[in-house]
Amino acid sequence: MNAADLGFNHVFRPARAAGAPVLLLLHGTGGNEHDLVPLSEALLPDAAILSPRGQVLERGMPRFFRRLAEGVFDLEDLEQRTHELARFVERAAAHYGFEQRQVVAVGFSNGANIAASLLLLEPSTLGGGVLFRAMVPLVPDALPALPGTPVLLSNGRSDPLVSLEESDRLAALLRRAGADVTLALQAAGHELSSQDIVQAREWLSAVFSQPHQVER
Ligand code: MLT
Repeated sequence: MNAADLGFNHVFRPARAAGAPVLLLLHGTGGNEHDLVPLSEALLPDAAILSPRGQVLERGMPRFFRRLAEGVFDLEDLEQRTHELARFVERAAAHYGFEQRQVVAVGFSNGANIAASLLLLEPSTLGGGVLFRAMVPLVPDALPALPGTPVLLSNGRSDPLVSLEESDRLAALLRRAGADVTLALQAAGHELSSQDIVQAREWLSAVFSQPHQVER
């Protein structure tokens, strides 16, 4: 299989250090596969990156799933697209040669919402996640098993799209499934602030850095 057959337009870049995580970069509405590459450099420059472009178009703007209105999701489409994204990550892992437990989603807004949906519906896809400005994408019929899965939920205190109650609801849902959730509320709205980046960088290096393996 070649890269064009994996199912999503995407960017892949191998890790710069052995054993570093693979950041699955998931852009917001209207973004593309190149958008979050500079963010990944600021967060964990040694990491590999896998960055797909969402396959839904809303008035020409790429997204990862359909919505009926702002914050009102087409749940059937969301479920189907979540499974498709999980299969893409599996194929990419086989193609590029990484382990799925090394994959850490880094999503913003619509991308954070599908990352949360992956955790809830396809829990074996991710080893962890950094969710910027996520809301509850759906409530699954059965809770997934996410024992100890590290999740940083970094939301804005004055976000007009995601209320503080919604942030608490998502943190509680993921914790009920066993995830180890850090909820960081920033002095910000829906857009990222420099504090989001500082805190996510510290969290990623505390949770995912490991001694570099020396080849013998
Ligand atoms: C969504 O549709 O996922 C959320 O409303 C965030 C957005 O993309 O604006």
